[in-house]
Amino acid sequence: MTILGISAYYHDSAAVLIEDGKIVAAIEEERFSRIKHDNGFPHKAIDFCLKSRDLEIKDVDYVAYYEKPLLKFERILENFIATFPLSLQPFLKGMPEWLDYKIKIESSIRRLGFKNKIFFVPHHYSHASACFLNSSFKESAILTIDGVGEWQTTGLWKANNNKITPLKRIDFPNSLGLLYSTFTAHMGFKVNEDEYKLMGLAAYGKPIYADKIRSIVDIKPDGSFRLNLKYFGFREGFRMYNNRFEKIFGKARSKKERIVRRHADLAASVQSVTEDIYFKTLNHLFELTGSSNLCLSGGVALNALANGKIYKKTPFKNVYIFGAAGDSGAAVGAALYVNNVIMKKRRNQPQNLYLGSKYDNNAIEDALLRYNLKFIKYDSERKLIDRAAGLLSKGKIIGWFQGGCEFGPRALGNRSILSKPNPKSMKKKMNIIKRREQFRPFAGSILQSEVHKYFEVPEKNHQSPFMTFCFKVKKDKSSTLASIVHKDGTCRIQTVNHDNGRYFNLIKKFFELTKIACVMNTSFNLKGEPIVETPDQAIEDFLKTRMDALVLGDYVVIK
Ligand SMILES: [Fe+2]
Repeated sequence: MTILGISAYYHDSAAVLIEDGKIVAAIEEERFSRIKHDNGFPHKAIDFCLKSRDLEIKDVDYVAYYEKPLLKFERILENFIATFPLSLQPFLKGMPEWLDYKIKIESSIRRLGFKNKIFFVPHHYSHASACFLNSSFKESAILTIDGVGEWQTTGLWKANNNKITPLKRIDFPNSLGLLYSTFTAHMGFKVNEDEYKLMGLAAYGKPIYADKIRSIVDIKPDGSFRLNLKYFGFREGFRMYNNRFEKIFGKARSKKERIVRRHADLAASVQSVTEDIYFKTLNHLFELTGSSNLCLSGGVALNALANGKIYKKTPFKNVYIFGAAGDSGAAVGAALYVNNVIMKKRRNQPQNLYLGSKYDNNAIEDALLRYNLKFIKYDSERKLIDRAAGLLSKGKIIGWFQGGCEFGPRALGNRSILSKPNPKSMKKKMNIIKRREQFRPFAGSILQSEVHKYFEVPEKNHQSPFMTFCFKVKKDKSSTLASIVHKDGTCRIQTVNHDNGRYFNLIKKFFELTKIACVMNTSFNLKGEPIVETPDQAIEDFLKTRMDALVLGDYVVIK
């Protein structure tokens, strides 16, 4: 059975193809369109998914869409009525589109030539399915948490085999995601895009505004909460915050304004309140389910800083966070929901996320020739790895482009820029290459077998393959990992094992050469760009920056 999953028209549009319960292709539209967080209909991503399996649209049995459009329209309409006349202008502007929202989706899918059934899966069911059905757990508690789906913003669930049962929910306008995004906007950052900047900034501040935030968010012991809407603007559709909000938290930062202590304190404060709600909710979820397994999904589940504390702050023993926890991953969830819950098919094994486009040596060599670059082609993987690890050990920064590109927001060693994790100045160099703010931290990719020696992980063989947790760096390793230890002593980590053989071999060789089992890993893109998709885009970024070397498939280019 072949199912095409689609997410579109909000942010991070994506397509995924499932064959007999196995995810065989998945990619965000932005990788092809080159529009970051592209929210259009994912024509190119669908085309890629089908072509990668030599299929045509007529070979697809079902399409699964990641939300229920009519419910979403209902929320827009009710919200308009509740906020009239303030919301009149934005409503009139957006209304014609909303009126035929469902028709627009259906006709986009039908125009592909698709004639079979389309399933519209509720948004939080899509998130819940994306994490649980892709996990190795037979039974689990699930928390879904994001800005907003149709109505729902938080979901507490219990799952067993093919059954996913809702237990409790919180609906719009009470949303932890929108609370975090309100502070993101107030900080002069982009909503739905720069929330992780706020998370990075939090380490530099003290949560001295946390009580003020609590004065406008009523938090109950079970983690449920209500926003005092007098202070927020997102329902009226103009700004996330309003003048009353600015009276409490000060004037919003303009994009070009320097970041000062107050901003860091605000970031630390909203992070602290978010964690308070997060852990209260999770503890309540544990009481409701009694399960020691936890699956997490939805945009808020990408808050790696909060995730790293789950093991200490809650009784959950095993935590699985789907790497594409945001809305692109909901396309996977919608398709798995149809396969496993509606069609009752057997669940498959958990999968890695190297599900995007691949380029063979011919395509890579053609690109290198087009750019007139001098290159060396290695005829054995061992020699290639020796060379790349040798460069890293000498402090060189390399662009690393291999195999299928990663689905989800993180580069996991197939479209990455890599370097040694020390000295501290390496961070500055890398931030200059990436053209991004100096306060932002970098992640580390570490051999899974060594992770407990470097980080305060909950268990010896801890797995974090999708970079969804931050953990404290062990004191005796802080100088070894000087360029990736954040101001608060934590680091976002990716544990690497045989799942990504070439990347694993690279870090293993680097370990042999340097006695350090970890490299600094950042996504292969420059500020404002989606992660590179083709060899040409990788070469362009390499030539524009001070990267020292580029490793594309079996080819090495030295600058
Ligand atoms: Fe979502």
